[in-house]
Amino acid sequence: MTQKNIILGITGGIAAYKTPELVRRLRERGADVQVVLTRSAREFVTETTLQAVSGLPVRSDLWDKGAEAAMGHIELARWADLILIAPATAEIMARLASGSAPDLLTTLCLATEAPVLIAPAMNHVMWKNPAVQENRDKLISRGVRILGPASGDQACGETGPGRMLEPNEIVAAVMAPLAVPDIVQAPLAGMTVMITAGPTREAIDPVRYITNRSSGKMGFALAVAARQAGAKVILVCGPVSIPAPEGVECINVESARDMFAATHARIDDVNIFIAAAAVADYRAVDEKTGKIKKSTDELSIALVKNPDILASVDRMHNGPFTVGFAAETDNLGDYARSKLESKRLNMIVANLVGKNIGFDADENAVEVFWLGGEQSFPLADKRQLAQDLIALIAERYLQGINADTQTELPIMMVRD
Ligand SMILES: Cc1cc2nc3c(=O)[nH]c(=O)nc-3n(C[C@H](O)[C@H](O)[C@H](O)COP(=O)(O)O)c2cc1C
Repeated sequence: MTQKNIILGITGGIAAYKTPELVRRLRERGADVQVVLTRSAREFVTETTLQAVSGLPVRSDLWDKGAEAAMGHIELARWADLILIAPATAEIMARLASGSAPDLLTTLCLATEAPVLIAPAMNHVMWKNPAVQENRDKLISRGVRILGPASGDQACGETGPGRMLEPNEIVAAVMAPLAVPDIVQAPLAGMTVMITAGPTREAIDPVRYITNRSSGKMGFALAVAARQAGAKVILVCGPVSIPAPEGVECINVESARDMFAATHARIDDVNIFIAAAAVADYRAVDEKTGKIKKSTDELSIALVKNPDILASVDRMHNGPFTVGFAAETDNLGDYARSKLESKRLNMIVANLVGKNIGFDADENAVEVFWLGGEQSFPLADKRQLAQDLIALIAERYLQGINADTQTELPIMMVRD
């Protein structure tokens, strides 16, 4: 693990009561944790507790003469391999987004070259406030990783998105990209997983295109989960506004034909192919070279079918284990089973799409089908769902290998 020195910034939210537990979990994984509290955080959790669990004096004051004489704020910023802020209030997000540095924690964030991760926690109405969402987007665009928030019951008695992730989920996210794969916890060690994600854009003319509502979140979450399961991950990604996950090779494409070409350029070494992208079924027959003028009351655009990437991979001789996605607004099971059979996929993940579910949402609920079996996954955060799906895909894939070879377990499953 290279993330040995962690600054844990704690800000003034109710979820601060969970941070002593978070410090303990991080230390169990071998990290040295320097706690930095904001003034408001001190209302929620005591320095004494945090000092006891971290084994280091807690820092909170930028103007602490003793601390500045020893490891001052610049040295502390250099010391850190990673800064984690949990819980992160709406207020700290605003300060980070604006680049202001009125206190020790924000000064450290500006003065460090280490990755900054934040785990927001706040009332769901606050979280949905456009100002908070704008700050979130701004931070993402600057490379800050946002962990959560999760949905569920809140301290205020209401329900919705805004809960801080649980300490063990935060630790998993912090440690995952660089964790050394263990043969039992990493069932896909030694495997290459290719995942397509996001929408495609089909140009009509130089300024207009056909696309869909896919955000890429499900595919990206699957990429993170596959990486955590030990796989080498290639993410072939349409135009999205979320940052590429760490430790994953990301190939950016625009149209369905680009995605087809990028997929086939690398497919030969792939063990598992997961087609999570919402590839446009059709494109304009004739992409205009000049902008179409507003000269007629009606305009028809002739469309032609795009190549079917999933089917083309599935038809390959000795091709990879294929997992398709089906997004439907109704008759989910019937459609998914017929797609499983007609395309002869190994598995299909079917999800209902509609308001607040599926496309462009943080949560999803899916049904997974394979020959002779099915499993339902209830509504959950896409990252959690992705971990469960990757576990199931790995299980089915490895069972297939064992059945094919009729020999011993493959090497990555052997222990003792
Ligand atoms: C009882 C109480 C609970 C609070 N809980 C939260 C919270 O969960 N999330 C949040 O963003 N702000 C919360 N606030 C507001 C913040 O404490 C306030 O915005 C403060 O200025 C944050 O400062 P800091 O980010 O420097 O810690 C809470 C305030 C109070 C009085």
